[in-house]
Amino acid sequence: MTTEQILTPHTLEEIAEWESRYPPEQKKSALLAALRAAQHQNNGYLTTALMDAVAKRLELSKIEVYEVGSFYSMYELSPVAKHNVAVCTNVSCMLMGSDTIVSHLEKKLNIKLGESTADGRIYLKVEEECLAACAGGPMMQVDHKYYTELTPEKVDKIIDALE
Ligand code: FES
Repeated sequence: MTTEQILTPHTLEEIAEWESRYPPEQKKSALLAALRAAQHQNNGYLTTALMDAVAKRLELSKIEVYEVGSFYSMYELSPVAKHNVAVCTNVSCMLMGSDTIVSHLEKKLNIKLGESTADGRIYLKVEEECLAACAGGPMMQVDHKYYTELTPEKVDKIIDALE
């Protein structure tokens, strides 16, 4: 399949937009955004075919793209549920009770970290490193939004409001 058959027009547009921000010989600078767009078009996870298409589009070697795709925790390499829930368990959040939040979520959703609910609604991401909202710990990221100063009650409201 060609790159155009694998990447949607929207993804290709996004890649072009990010690519235009950098010098032509610095195409790799657009890689993070390109992978994010490719992941978004595929219900939240990357496949080898998608990463290969991104490599071709940005004229990078496949291994350069695999290295980035497998290094950053914001990329998923296997199917996940619709909503991505990531609780920060780094030092500041841990001191503020992130363990309680993780336990509460695991019990409420009946899954462990790294698993998705059977209905395909919630993916509980493996413990997340510092998400740079330390002053508001414990905190979690749900899809692209941050929620801070969590309590089990607050978590219930947030999770129950997800479609
Ligand atoms: S330690 Fe949790 S956001 Fe920094």
